[in-house]
Formats: sequence, C-alpha cells, structure tokens
Amino acid sequence: MHNPTLTHDAANDLWWRSAVIYQVYIRSFADGDGDGTGDIAGLRSRLPYLADLGVDAIWINPWYPSPLADGGYDVSDFRGIHPTYGTLDEARKLITEAHELGLRVILDIVPNHTSDQHAWFQEALAAPPGSPERDRFIFREGRGENGGEPPNDWYAAFGGPTWTRTPDGQWYLHLFAPEQPDLNWDNDEVRAEFESILRFWFDLGVDGFRIDVAHGMVKDPALPDLGLTEFSVIAGEGQDNHPHWDRDGVHDIYRSWRAIADSYPDPRVFVAEAHVRPGRMPDYLRADELHTAFNFDFLKCALEADRLREVIDRTITDLATVGAPATWVLSNHDETRHVTRYGRAHTGVTNPARDQGHPTDLALGTRRARAAALLMLALPGGAYVYQGEELGLYEVEDLPESALQDPTWERSGHTVRGRDGCRVPLPWTGDTPPFGFGTFVSATPWLPQPDDWKSYTAEANRADPTSMLHLYRSALRLRRTNSGLRSEEFRWLAGPPGTLLFERDNALRCAVNLTDRPIPLPDTWVPLLASGPLNKDGTLPPDTTVLLHLDRLTD
Ligand code: NOJ
Repeated sequence: MHNPTLTHDAANDLWWRSAVIYQVYIRSFADGDGDGTGDIAGLRSRLPYLADLGVDAIWINPWYPSPLADGGYDVSDFRGIHPTYGTLDEARKLITEAHELGLRVILDIVPNHTSDQHAWFQEALAAPPGSPERDRFIFREGRGENGGEPPNDWYAAFGGPTWTRTPDGQWYLHLFAPEQPDLNWDNDEVRAEFESILRFWFDLGVDGFRIDVAHGMVKDPALPDLGLTEFSVIAGEGQDNHPHWDRDGVHDIYRSWRAIADSYPDPRVFVAEAHVRPGRMPDYLRADELHTAFNFDFLKCALEADRLREVIDRTITDLATVGAPATWVLSNHDETRHVTRYGRAHTGVTNPARDQGHPTDLALGTRRARAAALLMLALPGGAYVYQGEELGLYEVEDLPESALQDPTWERSGHTVRGRDGCRVPLPWTGDTPPFGFGTFVSATPWLPQPDDWKSYTAEANRADPTSMLHLYRSALRLRRTNSGLRSEEFRWLAGPPGTLLFERDNALRCAVNLTDRPIPLPDTWVPLLASGPLNKDGTLPPDTTVLLHLDRLTD
C-alpha cells in the first residue's frame, strides 16, 4: 500500500516531476448508485484499488454540471458537480479520502469554451449584438448576402463549420461542437472568472488541473480564413501564426495562473493538453508557466525502435531547456486504446478521427501493450495511465450505432464513430455485464460492455499473476523502490537494430525488443521485471521489455 505522505516539504513539493497519474473518466469508472453511470460514490469506493495499484494521483475528467453534449467538456457551471455524479460535499470527501491514501487529486478545467447552457451564453443569446454579454464569446456578422455565410472557412474538430447562426442573424464561434461556444479571452471578465474558478477548487483542496485545449483560447481577432479541409484541425499542425492554435498570447494567461497556484503553501500543479508543433512545447513549461504537458508524440508514435528513440530523445532534450520533466502516455479518453492500436499493421496514430476499424490482432496488441507499458514506466519523468489499460482493455469497435454518444458520430453524418469505444464502463467483478460496474442495483451501463470482458475484470486480473494488472502493480512498486527508476538519470546504450536499450543509473537497465527475433541480453545483468516470459536460453523474445539489474545489487 501507499505511504500516505502528503506533507509539505521540499521533496514532496516536487512529486509532480515523476508522478504516475491515473486518469479517471468518471462516467465509466465505477457506479456507486447503480444508475448505469459512474459517479463520485463509485470512485470513492475504489480509491483503495488505486492506492494499491500504486499510482501517485488521479486526474478526473470534467465532473461539472453539463448537458454532456461532449461527455462533460461542455460545462454549464464550473463550480458545481453534475447531479448524476454527486454533490460538492461528496467531492470534498473524495479529496480528503484520496489524500488520506496518499493520492493527489487533479481536476480538468475547460477554459476554451462553455456549454451553450452556461448562464453566460444564455445571457449572450438574450442580449443584442455588440453587448457586453456577447463580448464574453466570439460573435460576428456573417459573410455574403444578408450575412448568410459563416464569417470564415474554419472547420470544427467534430466536423462541420465552426460557426452557428443565432436567430438574430449573428454567428458564434465553436472550435468543437455547436453546444460548446468559444470564450473570448480578450475579455477581462473571462480572465477574472477563470482565476476565481481556479481558487474555488484550490481552496477545496484539489492539487492541480489538467488544462483542456491549452493551446486554444487566444484567437487572431481578424479571424482569417485557413483554407483547410474538414477533420484536419485538431492536431494543431500547420502554419506559423495559426489564427486559433498555439498563439503566443496564451502564455500571459498561464503566467497569471501559475502565480495563483504558487500562492498556495503546498504546490498546485498544471498539466497542459496542448497539441503543438515540435519545439513549441517548452514555452508552455517555462518556470513561471505550467508544470508538465501530455506527450502526445509518444502516444501517437508507431511501436518502432527508431521512431520511439527519436520521440524520447526529442522530448527529453526539448524539455530540459526549460528544466521541465518529461511525461509519457499511451492512451486516453480521446484515442483508440493502445491494445487495439498495437495489434494493427500500422501501430501509430495518424488521424484521430479516422484511425478506426482496421483489423487488429488483440493477442499481439496485448503483448506489445505490455512491452510499451513497461517501457513507459521505466522512462524518466511522469506517466499517465488511462483507466482500464491496467486491466488490458481493448477498444470496443462494435458498439451498436444506437449507443454512440460522441458528437463526432452525428457531426460527421454517421461516417466517423468517434471515441466511445475507449469509454466503455470498466469491468470490476463477475461473469456477466455490468461486471460489478454498478455496485448496488445494476442498471445497464451507459455504453454496453462486451461479454468477453469477464476475463478482463479487476477480479480476474487479480487472480492471474501474469495479468496486465500485476505487471502495472509490479512496475509501479519498482518505481518507488528502485534507485535507478527514482533517479532522473537516463542514458542510451548501443543495442541491435530494432531494439531500445537504456540505463537509468549504473544499476538499472531497460531493454525493449521490437524486432521479430530474440535478442541476447547484456551479460551480468539479471531480469528484475519483464513484460512477458523470457526465453529459456536467456534471450529477450520479440515485443518484450525487460528491466535488468546488476547481479550484485539488491534493490
Ligand atoms: C480535449 C478533450 O480531451 C476532448 O475529450 C474534448 O472533446 C475536447 N478537448 C473539447 O473540449
């Protein structure tokens, strides 16, 4: 179990530099009241599981009041809790109980947009063009005859135009769904409101925030045309001086947020969800801005040694320029689960909207997922674990169309299924759905679980010493006890082509075999933990990672 040490001292203040943070997609984690949707009660009941797993913190996806047009990323009240998930009082209890177990709690803040049901947007719709109420959002006149054409040619992330017309003829901007109007960050009231929201939750005891669309928010007021095609905008790649992604103006916002975080005696931290071009990330992680950022280059990278090495090198080198730690991540609630991705012929992510429905070999994907997980947890810095990856869950690609809820499905005219397949409620116990997802009355979960998840439950994983859960637990334990994994040291060693070999200090090495044949392991080094069985002759099989220590060492 964890050592519950959330005390305030210099070493603990740096916890975020090497933290493993478990992502709780609350809607699908555990259902405490049996209505088919996850909630705070369910999460509280499973905190001991998370402490036992050995993670350092949890990040909870948006739990605020929301019509759930985009799974809660359409927030109608930033200071409340969605009634389906519970109450503010339960949120307080959750934070206290998590802290007692040594787990920090990170929330998700969504500053780029609100819900169209947010009081501000409703006020804006009721107010005339040019009013202060409209100035909190981005309203414009249309182009063409009677302003009947959108103000520019931008596409929204889930498909369709990025503008919706209001009954009085003006248009409002939404980089995501029409139910998610973009806020105007040139408006002082917007800035003050978010500073107040941060303080509200920090005062309640939360340890930090994951910042949604951290590369958004600031727009070129001229709103120039982009000349792009549908579904090409989310990656934020493309030209310099993009009119709505990664504009320099966002850094002022983060400087003021950091000052707020630093005004608390114990550290409060930020992690950026920023999709930016190579070389741009360090700016977000300057000492007076955010603490860490998701490493989507790692998530998207094909499972090939040369490419991984390049991403790992670039990450460490780039971030070192600002003294920020690396982070690593394989899956989240927006991407196809990596067991499924790694079982495909092409293991990288190219276009999140389109990477679906390719044939996959789940046995191969699982073997590779194990190798990738052990690699991720052996690298220096922090890591993110998406709920269910520790159980070995795969993407549910055959959800019935009637069950699909991701706005992408509707917005794409039923051509792109979207992200529901990685959001299916977790299986905990038993042989039939809902597999203990609901602890009391068991309504059907909001997305149906596959029958064969009976062999993926936490219970089934626990009973099998070779399971994914045991691999994660063992690796997380080693991160706490092994001096090599606890150090910030990292050094590549020469290995055969198609392999990765590195040393964390002179006592711990990691070898990853991504070739199709066994490779010899360094002499005098002894396996400490492997992602799969090693060969009898001591060689490392394909798609396998091993951590090794020097024979004489005991840690
Ligand atoms: C990124 C979130 O991870 C995703 O789920 C959401 O749809 C968009 N931001 C919009 O808020």
